[in-house]
Amino acid sequence: MQCVQSPIIPVVAEWIRQHPGTISLGQGVVGYGPPPEAMAQLQGFGTEPDSHKYKPVVGLPELLQAFEQKLQAENGIALGDDSRLVITAGGNMAFMNALLAIADPGDELILQTPYYFNHEMAVTMASCRPVLVPTDANYQLQPDAIRQAITPRTRAVVTISPNNPTGAVYPEAALRAVNELCRERGIFHIHDEAYEYFVYGGARHFSPGSLAGAGGHTISLYSLSKAYGFASWRIGAMVVPADLLTAVRKIQDTILICAPVISQVAAVGALQAGRAYCQQHLQRIAEVREGVRQELGTLGKVCEVPPADGAFYFLLRLRTALAPLDLTERLIRNHRVAVIPGNAFGLEHGCHLRIAYAALQKEAVAEGIGRLVRGIRETL
Ligand SMILES: Cc1ncc(COP(=O)(O)O)c(C=O)c1O
Repeated sequence: MQCVQSPIIPVVAEWIRQHPGTISLGQGVVGYGPPPEAMAQLQGFGTEPDSHKYKPVVGLPELLQAFEQKLQAENGIALGDDSRLVITAGGNMAFMNALLAIADPGDELILQTPYYFNHEMAVTMASCRPVLVPTDANYQLQPDAIRQAITPRTRAVVTISPNNPTGAVYPEAALRAVNELCRERGIFHIHDEAYEYFVYGGARHFSPGSLAGAGGHTISLYSLSKAYGFASWRIGAMVVPADLLTAVRKIQDTILICAPVISQVAAVGALQAGRAYCQQHLQRIAEVREGVRQELGTLGKVCEVPPADGAFYFLLRLRTALAPLDLTERLIRNHRVAVIPGNAFGLEHGCHLRIAYAALQKEAVAEGIGRLVRGIRETL
């Protein structure tokens, strides 16, 4: 555990606490809660004694069925002979289940940098080795670099699209290339789709698990946390190759037994509301995003803003010799605005800051970005 990095978010949270009135552009959550359909499902929950019992490890049949339909209709993933669906307590748990199912201590997992810190932490925690492959200047995948990073110990390549922390959306061709590479080399492709609905403009979400022949080596991870404002309910899902199901069942049975049943019942309602619910909120988030983009544009050359057509993040690249953690502290202390420093995502060189813009109302984000832009101008 001493090798596992300590998350930076609690450090930033402490600075925010010490400086009341700070606007946080740090938190990677949405500002809305679950749809009414989710809450409606809960009426009467608990009146039957059976509600309080353990339920199947892989999930409630009605939730599995609803999720299977969603996968088929939206992701082009048909569960067949070669893949299975498991309901988990969130996307993070789905990743841990996948990792423990496929890797032994000392095995290697290829992560793209900047990475999602909990993925890196999970790999280290499982006594495996994260092999870090940089994305390009636009935070896009570099399939040739991934190919070169594969060794006999590699068990999987991990991708996330739309991406946290960059907001990058990987085009179908790049995901196809990675998925094909994994098939060729006999390793898994773990693809995290937690932000699948959060795409803007002409960007399109693509699920590599939908590719012909992908089912046997592709692990697709999902989360209700963002799309349905469901973060506290802890519901996610994973599609796994059929021959991993026994391992995943062992892991989930040992750690969790089953995802909280009340949350699974609510999730059935969330899926009834469906993608349209998120879409409704997306319009507002897209407007906020546009405002943020324009305001950041006024900083000129000092602040590069690579394209971010998805999720709800921008990962800024700043021209300064200041360390990102120092800059973050100054922004909170002197300007009362919080962001996440790039070293949380494995960026060792340069000064990067992640902005999250979906948690707050438009006015609060505008005020926060105004402070950030002034802060950057004055500090750099
Ligand atoms: C890429 C990615 N995967 C998974 C998660 C965690 O999702 P969950 O709340 O379902 O565990 C997050 C949360 O920020 C994320 O950014």
